[in-house]
Amino acid sequence: MNRLSYLFILMLLAVIMPSEAKKKKGSSVAPKGISERVDSLLQLMTLEEKIGQTVLFTSRWDVTGPVLRDGEEDAIKSGQCGNIFNAHTAEYTRKLQKMAVEETRLGIPLLFGYDVIHGHQTLAPISLGESASWDLELIEKSARMAAREAAACGLHWTFAPMVDIGRDPRWGRVSEGAGEDPYLGIEIAKARVKGFQGDDLADKETVLACVKHMAAYGAAQAGRDYNSVDMSERVLRETYLPAYKAAIDAGARTVMTSFNDLDGVPATANSFLLKDILRDEWGFDGMVVTDYTAINELIPHGVAKDEYDAGVLAMKAGVDMDMEGGIYMDHLKKAIENGDVAMEELDNAVRNVLALKFELGIMDDPYRYCDEEREKEEVLSAQNRETAYQMAAKSCVLLKNDNSALPINANEKVAVIGPLANSKRDLLGSWKAAGKPQSVQATILDAIIKNGGSENVTFSKGCDINTDNKAGFAKAIEQAKKADKVIMVMGEKWSMSGEAACRTNLDFPGVQPELIQEITALGKPVVLVFMTGRAMTIQKESESVDALLNVWYPGVEGGRAVADILYGKENPSGKLTMTFPRNVGQIPIFYSYKRTGRPFDPSKPKDTYKSRYLDVQNTPLFPFGYGLSYTQFEYSDITISNSELVSGNSIEVSVSVTNSGNYDGEEVVQLYIWDQVASVTRPVKELKGFKKVKINKGDTQKVNFTINEEDLKFYRKDMTFGAEDGQFTIYIGSDSDASNSVEFSLTGVKL
Ligand code: GLC
Repeated sequence: MNRLSYLFILMLLAVIMPSEAKKKKGSSVAPKGISERVDSLLQLMTLEEKIGQTVLFTSRWDVTGPVLRDGEEDAIKSGQCGNIFNAHTAEYTRKLQKMAVEETRLGIPLLFGYDVIHGHQTLAPISLGESASWDLELIEKSARMAAREAAACGLHWTFAPMVDIGRDPRWGRVSEGAGEDPYLGIEIAKARVKGFQGDDLADKETVLACVKHMAAYGAAQAGRDYNSVDMSERVLRETYLPAYKAAIDAGARTVMTSFNDLDGVPATANSFLLKDILRDEWGFDGMVVTDYTAINELIPHGVAKDEYDAGVLAMKAGVDMDMEGGIYMDHLKKAIENGDVAMEELDNAVRNVLALKFELGIMDDPYRYCDEEREKEEVLSAQNRETAYQMAAKSCVLLKNDNSALPINANEKVAVIGPLANSKRDLLGSWKAAGKPQSVQATILDAIIKNGGSENVTFSKGCDINTDNKAGFAKAIEQAKKADKVIMVMGEKWSMSGEAACRTNLDFPGVQPELIQEITALGKPVVLVFMTGRAMTIQKESESVDALLNVWYPGVEGGRAVADILYGKENPSGKLTMTFPRNVGQIPIFYSYKRTGRPFDPSKPKDTYKSRYLDVQNTPLFPFGYGLSYTQFEYSDITISNSELVSGNSIEVSVSVTNSGNYDGEEVVQLYIWDQVASVTRPVKELKGFKKVKINKGDTQKVNFTINEEDLKFYRKDMTFGAEDGQFTIYIGSDSDASNSVEFSLTGVKL
């Protein structure tokens, strides 16, 4: 169809449709005017054109899974494919867009999606790293930056935020999420959605968010990706679902189904998840897309006998769009003709897709995101690099700093050792998407040399990341002997976490442990910096080095940020959002565990018949919420406005925090609550509030929290969601081991 007929149809639509109502802020509801425009367009569409809008194919520009078919450009021109992912740049998206707009009968524009997980080209730290900043404002700003860059490169839609709760570090995809805790997961999900979508999707510096992976993907058995998930509805609703719901309440317009089955029903064919919960309970009116070929995978899951069967199951469960599988394209027409899928079901799916294209404004201006000038200005701008730097500096977690090994004095002789010290690619982590190693201006080594002076810094790789080759040990040891201090930069390769990257052994890979032991045996102060996408089992190393700094994969400006922390230009403030186990045998281990009927008391080590191990303590190596600073923060004077919280009221809790050290710094003040007795067993504590506060050295700050009945609700014995009268303990401190406490009672709850 040529442009003239497209314009005629648009004029026709514009004439018979009211003007668009502005979208309500933060709602997940399409503006009123748009649904009328969608319905009018739907009436013009043939069955084949409708099916085309439910099809999402990868471009060849980037590939993020097994490619099942070629020829997406032909499918675009024939109207069989209405959406493309893994294509970007203003120029390339314009090329594909022209095919859709100018070569199909109705000229409906393509939706362009991509995995902009932690930045588009200006990569921030991986998402698990960002979560360790506990800085919601900065997390939102980082997502905003990613959205601006992605939109400038022709993209309308990011497959983020990933909000899967991660409590098993064997699962490589914990690297993409926000850790183990629902409360923090909720807050970070909201911040990321707001960052991506802004206040108005008609703003061409915004992109559609996609909440993934619905649902409970992080609970894959044995920490093995794509594996089965089985859990009680209470655990599902209390731990795994809240972050998805929070993202939708924050206005997320799309949801991605997960690969796993949940209680025997694959998410992509699970109407309990996609209709009962998502649509009926949560009121979601956006669009549901599958994960990569997830409809096809209903066959190996064993719930569909063939592709036709799989397509019917997915459509009837509430899936609107088929990512890369080609099943909707190949089988929906027949399914409609056979009456196995109702036309109304297909129309609903198409409505959900078209509504997004109207909301983005691309129905009226298909090329508004294809602006090469804007792309040049936005990509890797100084402002974006500064945001990435700030996030990297705030996400690193200082886990140990004995003998004031850190910060390093600029005149100290330093031996830098390790296979990750001079790597650009590893700084970017997994899911780098459009990020390029050549965008990295300084590795950690480069930045150390810049801070310490080349005359004071030597470097030797020492070993590979993951081989048994010890040939580099001798040179590393020689250089360490000549130095005042050793900085080792070790850890996992970027590809050892992320999708389909699970490990059963979470130690430092290869011969890194041996090298660390040989270097620490020299008796020099050793600072161990490590890159990782997960919680690792590093007890031996943590005991033998003087300082330990977890930098995750710190992004395109991570080299500079890490070196600035090492040399004291930045004071680390990150806190773990995943528990670090002592060994893999403790997994799953998380702070909000249940007490059991035989809780082990470490002060009574001889107690038998208690919930404990024979060979390792119950406690983790490093707890959730843990992270040090170069300064010290003292907590005192917890006060509570009333020791009784009457249902419907609130109480104020405050604590004084003093910076008693020698550096200005930021502290994440955390508030946990223990529900002592309830109709079901409750965790020993749950995060119910946190504030990241800047306190200059010598100053004291009062930090206040408001507690109300909402904070105390849970799924009671009868599975109703609400609070119960009873006694509660509040703990406030710098991590989940907080012991400063105060009690209160809740009364007057109407059951
Ligand atoms: C992958 C991932 C998903 C991603 C999608 C598109 O398999 O599971 O998170 O968004 O495919 O790349």
